[in-house]
Amino acid sequence: MKSIYMDHAATTPVHPDVVDAMVPVYKETFGNPSSVHQFGRKARRYLDQARRKVAESLKANEKEIVFTSGGTEADNLAVIGTARANAGKGKHIITTSIEHHATLHAVEYLESQGFEVTYLPVNEEGLVAIEDVKAALREDTILVSIMMVNNETGSIQPISQVGELLRDHQAYFHSDIVQAYGLMSLDVTTLPVDLLAVSGHKINGPKGIGFLYIREGVQIESLQYGGEQERKRRAGTENTPAVKGLQTAVEIMEAERMTYKEKYLHYKQLFIRTLEEKEVTFEVNGSEEFTVESIVNISFPDMNVETLLTNFDLSGIAASSGSACTAGSIEPSHVLTAMFGPGHPKTTNSIRFSFGLANNEEDIIEAATRVSQIIKRLT
Ligand SMILES: Cc1ncc(COP(=O)(O)O)c(C=O)c1O
Repeated sequence: MKSIYMDHAATTPVHPDVVDAMVPVYKETFGNPSSVHQFGRKARRYLDQARRKVAESLKANEKEIVFTSGGTEADNLAVIGTARANAGKGKHIITTSIEHHATLHAVEYLESQGFEVTYLPVNEEGLVAIEDVKAALREDTILVSIMMVNNETGSIQPISQVGELLRDHQAYFHSDIVQAYGLMSLDVTTLPVDLLAVSGHKINGPKGIGFLYIREGVQIESLQYGGEQERKRRAGTENTPAVKGLQTAVEIMEAERMTYKEKYLHYKQLFIRTLEEKEVTFEVNGSEEFTVESIVNISFPDMNVETLLTNFDLSGIAASSGSACTAGSIEPSHVLTAMFGPGHPKTTNSIRFSFGLANNEEDIIEAATRVSQIIKRLT
């Protein structure tokens, strides 16, 4: 039986061109980018090139890019780093109840350190209301952190509007764009944000690499103590091969964005249509209008996440109950709980399917067919 991977929001397959770009760096460019000799200078050139490319992809300046070990570290640095550096201006932070744990657990840590956090609610479509942000804002708010695309439902938050609201406020605006960066074209010359967190492995790049965009002038404290890498904002020898891989992934993503968007939307619609044709009872969770092409979250009434995922896995389908970081735990999804309320059946009967490079049309139809057979067998 053929395995079908439908969990691209957890991680994506590395593009073959990314691997090809990384291998020569591993083989030939082992120098430390901080070394002044020719071996170091060669590695430094790779870093500089990648930084330029990544900055260009957001229309940012290369000085505004800090390479990190991934999305989690970028979120941690944004949230904890700005909170620590700006605690003198206030100790209030606003975020949402549907953030990835990379943000949620970072603000929970800050609460333990004397910061006060407001967790904004979302509606049943998983969307934050601007009015709620406005109402939560205080004079002593120093940071607002709202993700651009939710990793469990694919819902797209009103980031531009929130940014506009904050233009004349002292609070910095951070957005986790880990699930948005591949498919949405973003431009920091017009988007009113101060910090953006990105991860390489969600865009067919390598794992363990990402970056944080930090707008020039933002006061931020480094979380690591050590060397002076990344303009003293992230100590530690840079991962040159992974940085090269990230650069290549960004280049591919930019060249293919429109094709990918069309393809993944088609897969999503085809998957839903096939389930309908097979007369499966289900509901799509999240916003119909504000949603990313690659993710669909589906509730199967009277079913249970663990049973579903086990049966899907036995039939070769890889999907997820939400954030990969909580997979395997029996906790109901915190995102769906925020949308529907604690104890709502949808918090324990919903599955996330996410589309990408590992898919083709035939597999999507096959996956929907296997899903429908499983649902009918379990009903
Ligand atoms: C929205 C979001 N933020 C942050 C992360 C963490 O990224 P990384 O796995 O690179 O640490 C993820 C990954 O699951 C994510 O989906």
